[in-house]
Amino acid sequence: MSFVEYSEVVQEDDVVIVFLGHDAMMPVHVRSGAQTQTRYGAIRHSSDLIGRRFGSKVTCSKGGWVYVLHPTPELWTLNLPHRTQILYSTDIATITLMLDLKPGAVVCESGTGSGSLSHAILRTIAPTGHLHTVEFHTERAQKAREEFGRHRVGHLVTVRNQDVCRQGFGVEGVADAVFLDIPSPWEAIQHAKAAIKRQGGRVCSFSPCIEQVQQTCAALVASGLQELLTLEVLLRVHDVRSVTLPLPDFGPEDDQHTHTHTQPAPGNALVTVKTATPPREMAGHTGYLTFATKVRE
Ligand SMILES: C[S@@+](CC[C@H](N)C(=O)[O-])C[C@H]1O[C@@H](n2cnc3c(N)ncnc32)[C@H](O)[C@@H]1O
Repeated sequence: MSFVEYSEVVQEDDVVIVFLGHDAMMPVHVRSGAQTQTRYGAIRHSSDLIGRRFGSKVTCSKGGWVYVLHPTPELWTLNLPHRTQILYSTDIATITLMLDLKPGAVVCESGTGSGSLSHAILRTIAPTGHLHTVEFHTERAQKAREEFGRHRVGHLVTVRNQDVCRQGFGVEGVADAVFLDIPSPWEAIQHAKAAIKRQGGRVCSFSPCIEQVQQTCAALVASGLQELLTLEVLLRVHDVRSVTLPLPDFGPEDDQHTHTHTQPAPGNALVTVKTATPPREMAGHTGYLTFATKVRE
């Protein structure tokens, strides 16, 4: 198992995602002899996980069952231990597209936070790219390093424990793209520009407040970056439901048509149809995404 390569079978020391039902999953670190308790009873790692194919249905000790899934960045985002606020897959998908990330790309990121975005970047830039991620909180930086190692992506990422606004990304002239998710991104724009290749590249900054966006845009313009664009992406998930509606009763037909028409529907007739219903409540604002381009020097 690796977060950037698919394996067929679960092995000792893998991280797997145990799927318990709609909206219920948990990450499990597989170790021989260990057990994991679920609402359906215990999963015994040696007999229930090790050697089983990813995607298998596993019966727990109380008779209920779960599915064992191969980890992906999207599943990890929904299951990771939160050390900070994180980015979710809707924003991450837009960032990946708009930063033009692809295999072989070199990316700079700050802060690492809980590594939600980092895992998605790593999957996209593998097997030949590199992520330089900067986190000034020492414990968070160390936890991220440990996680990248456990997820077998450590060779694709360098975690630096420093202040990106003062010390930058620790590399210059190498990046295809830079991403910022910090409270004062405008203080890091000069470092972002310096990190990008001479041939040019892309920048993105994520901020919850419009005042942060204004200051960031001013700094981007002052640094000579171009093609500024700020956008927000909102997700609408639809439920599939069977909806039962009354058939309209238009009353008796008038005389000249009665002989050709079928009988009107009786007053209590119902029809059931499958529909996709939009959410009553929707996840609201996460943040504004501001993009810019550093053109060739
Ligand atoms: C909201 S979190 C990032 C979440 C991350 N994008 C994810 O998806 O998991 C912001 C992180 O930036 C770090 N940070 C804030 N200012 C920083 C700075 N000047 N230099 C380095 N890291 C910084 C914080 O410690 C925090 O861990």
